[in-house]
Amino acid sequence: MKDVEKVVLAYSGGLDTSVCVKWLEEKNNVTVVTVIIDVGQPKDFKAVEERAYSLGVEKHYQIDGKQEFFDSYITPAIKANALYQGKYPLDAALSRPLIATKLVEIAKEEDADAVAHGCTGKGNDQVRIDICTTALNPKLKIVAPVREWDLDRPAEIEYAKKHGIPVDAHSVYSIDENMFGRSIECGILEYPEEEPPEDIFKLTTDPTKAPDEPEYVTIGFEKGVPVSLNDQKMNGVELIRKLNVIGGRHGVGRIDHIEDRLVGIKSREIYECPSAMILLEAHADLEKMVLTRHENYFKPIIDQKWTELVYTGLWMDPLKDDLDAFINNTQDRVTGAVKLKLYKGNQIVVGRTSPNSLYDYDLATYEEISTFDQKKSVNFIQLWGLPTVVARNKKMK
Ligand code: ARG
Repeated sequence: MKDVEKVVLAYSGGLDTSVCVKWLEEKNNVTVVTVIIDVGQPKDFKAVEERAYSLGVEKHYQIDGKQEFFDSYITPAIKANALYQGKYPLDAALSRPLIATKLVEIAKEEDADAVAHGCTGKGNDQVRIDICTTALNPKLKIVAPVREWDLDRPAEIEYAKKHGIPVDAHSVYSIDENMFGRSIECGILEYPEEEPPEDIFKLTTDPTKAPDEPEYVTIGFEKGVPVSLNDQKMNGVELIRKLNVIGGRHGVGRIDHIEDRLVGIKSREIYECPSAMILLEAHADLEKMVLTRHENYFKPIIDQKWTELVYTGLWMDPLKDDLDAFINNTQDRVTGAVKLKLYKGNQIVVGRTSPNSLYDYDLATYEEISTFDQKKSVNFIQLWGLPTVVARNKKMK
């Protein structure tokens, strides 16, 4: 790594990235600048700063990215009903392009020639950060110490101890957290047949121990963006924080699934994402009420492609902008409110209203006053079924 002089490292304050600092400084004689981006993870940011300087970094940056994370990353994901493989609300994936963008900005400010991150060579996060970085500035080199060094876990801990880096007791799990959710990997979770131990969960109550009384929440949307909670207008960051607490106490948002990573590995992933699951459920429901049947059939195709691009690190691809343009156009009408019942791990939509609702009581009702002329259905059915009837009759001959 002779060609790197100054590197901007995405620093969490944890074991891996702390070892990265020392590894870069000691082994490679590189000047290190660290950055931590507040995307709503619970963190003692002061302690992270102190640790960075104690490891000898030249400068440490702390950036509040919460509002930007909501506006430019979480909001588009809600509009796209983004659930990778039907399950994962992309909480970790969404933060990566934001982190990469900040690394590139600071690299410019600091006149650094490289950025660094603590991703392993087995996951999706390396793909996301590498591609976003290079897409924004192809001149920057990317250093991923964990991917490059030949330290196994015991050797890493040994190295950390030797350099006075505190090794915390809970490092059996690899955890990524931000305001949109928490991802937990490693340890016993690598055995997909085993139920996750209760102690890995921090945001959610065990659904079997959640209150016996359900709790109702109403989410207001404006053009696809959540803007109110229980009829109270609220900033998105605040709304998500509140919803995590309310959903969490009812055990809402626990996810356990087998995920196909981009690098070809199947992995067992555990997430807890109360606010994400509530918002996604509510948003998808509201769309059904305001979009036409044709849009409701077609948009999931776009949504799925959007989700796949974001999961696989292609946030910066022009196709994502194209899909955003389509999605945003549909969201003009996604205004209204959705009421959900939270109960023992479930978020159940129980009502919705919208000024743009296409639901027409007079057409839908089974009461006598209905304006729908049932007699017209007879001829309609004959034409609708014509190709099917012709083909089936032919086959039977
Ligand atoms: N599997 C998820 C993804 O690829 C989460 C990864 C989160 N990282 C972690 N260290 N737990 O987006």
